[in-house]
Amino acid sequence: WSLTVLMFIESFKVDSPNVKYTDDEIQSVYNYETTELVHENKNGAYQWTVKPKTVKYEFKTDIKVPKLGVLLVGWGGNNGSTLTAVVIANREGISWATKEKVQQANYFGSLTQTASIRVGSFNGEEIYAPFKSLLPTVNPDDIVFGGWDISNMNLADAMGRAKVLDIDLQKLLRPYMEHMVPLPGIYDPDFITANQGSRANNVIKGTKKEQVQQFIKDIRYYNTGDFKEQKKVDRVVVLWTANTERYSNVVVGLNDTMENLMASVERNEAEISPSTLFSIACVLENVPFINGSPQNTFIPGLIELAIQRNSLIGGDDFKSGQTKMKSVLVDFLVGAGNNDGMNLSAPQTFRSKEISKSNVVDDMVASNGILYEPVEHPDHVVVIKYVPYVADSKRAMDEYTSEIFMGGKSTIVLHNTCEDSLLAAPIILDLVLLDELSTRIQLKAEGEGKFHTFHPVATILSYLTKAPLVPPGTPVVNALSKQRAMLENILRACVGLAPENNMILEYK
Ligand code: NAI
Repeated sequence: WSLTVLMFIESFKVDSPNVKYTDDEIQSVYNYETTELVHENKNGAYQWTVKPKTVKYEFKTDIKVPKLGVLLVGWGGNNGSTLTAVVIANREGISWATKEKVQQANYFGSLTQTASIRVGSFNGEEIYAPFKSLLPTVNPDDIVFGGWDISNMNLADAMGRAKVLDIDLQKLLRPYMEHMVPLPGIYDPDFITANQGSRANNVIKGTKKEQVQQFIKDIRYYNTGDFKEQKKVDRVVVLWTANTERYSNVVVGLNDTMENLMASVERNEAEISPSTLFSIACVLENVPFINGSPQNTFIPGLIELAIQRNSLIGGDDFKSGQTKMKSVLVDFLVGAGNNDGMNLSAPQTFRSKEISKSNVVDDMVASNGILYEPVEHPDHVVVIKYVPYVADSKRAMDEYTSEIFMGGKSTIVLHNTCEDSLLAAPIILDLVLLDELSTRIQLKAEGEGKFHTFHPVATILSYLTKAPLVPPGTPVVNALSKQRAMLENILRACVGLAPENNMILEYK
């Protein structure tokens, strides 16, 4: 027994009168410590009172882990082909020679696969365990892939086209991927840049209604048909990692309600985007749909449809590189009491991406009424330019200028170079694994008669998305540490563990 061995444990079980492990599920009773706020108007000024309160919750988690099918829209793209390749490389234990060393396949960058959580102290040492040891999750090695693309290139060639993975690794993976060919997608040049036209050789024709019907057929093939039979898949999840679309206009009578949206599909309205058509098919088939791109796939009519049919939707836009950095830095600057402003300059291109990146700072700024007036907002400008030569190896330059003590200025400049798809692929993995896990959790608060699943708009995925989608009337949380704490603490509650409070009173 050395201390290093004690620092990290592979798995654990909770021993508590509040937790019960049965053959099928983990049941926990959990006291949720929260607050209730009341205010009184005293001589024209509000006086606030904060009352701590405890709400008793019960959780139950189905521990049977399904065989998962992950269906990617844009399967043949950089992200889709990279993730497929990486899972095969891990499953097959593939290693390859690089200039430096023999490299083993791994899942670095994935929260579920490579992050850890603190479970307590033992003999004066902090004890950590894998994040995935909290609750049973799908082993990514067991995932089966499928999907759609407007290009009919097989996945082995698509991996070559993406130029992300080392060439020796690609050669080893080719035999596993040559037979994988995406089903046809929708090419609508009104929604994605016209330069995709040259690869659009695998497309569904027909009206919008016919396109939705085709997707429903495809989803059934994967979810209940031949694919399910052959691959022994229990559940499927669909994720959009196709090109970024332009924003759809939200128009009263067109897509603002569920009825109007469905009627617009019937009428073949031009303004209904391919990603929305896809998500309609998923919701109708009750298959989870996650949007990894920044566009507003989930227009109000679609959100209403998902809520009405209790079908899971989550998004938007994978939070990889710089946005992750930004949600940490802004939290740090505002949390430290610095008035923060971010400066870069913006043309009209990449509008969807710029909007999803821009909203990231909102709640953090609003949380400090000392630094910012209610209407005040930092200068926050995002520009995105496509530079063909750098391909998947994106460059990001960020400058943060903030006002510090007594009018002084502090400027932080960051420069980042990184293969974008190697950041996004582990995030896709986490999204589908956590999404699947969340469907196995049920909860009920005291006074609620029946257990229910989480709300169909999956807010617990917000750590992984740039512009977290929330149900109408729900606060958006953008600070990265809060998002991670939300996710970790909810999973801890499922096994009856208190939220991580970092107080470590044992040693005070
Ligand atoms: P990519 O351009 O390599 O791949 C997109 C694929 O989608 C292509 O194979 C294309 O043929 C296909 N496609 C386009 N429209 C389609 C449709 N309607 N139906 C089916 N397939 C369609 O792009 P990449 O790098 O893989 O990124 C994919 C998406 O992920 C983009 O929207 C990007 O904004 C988003 N994203 C990527 C991040 C990253 O770090 N790589 C981070 C955040 C978001």
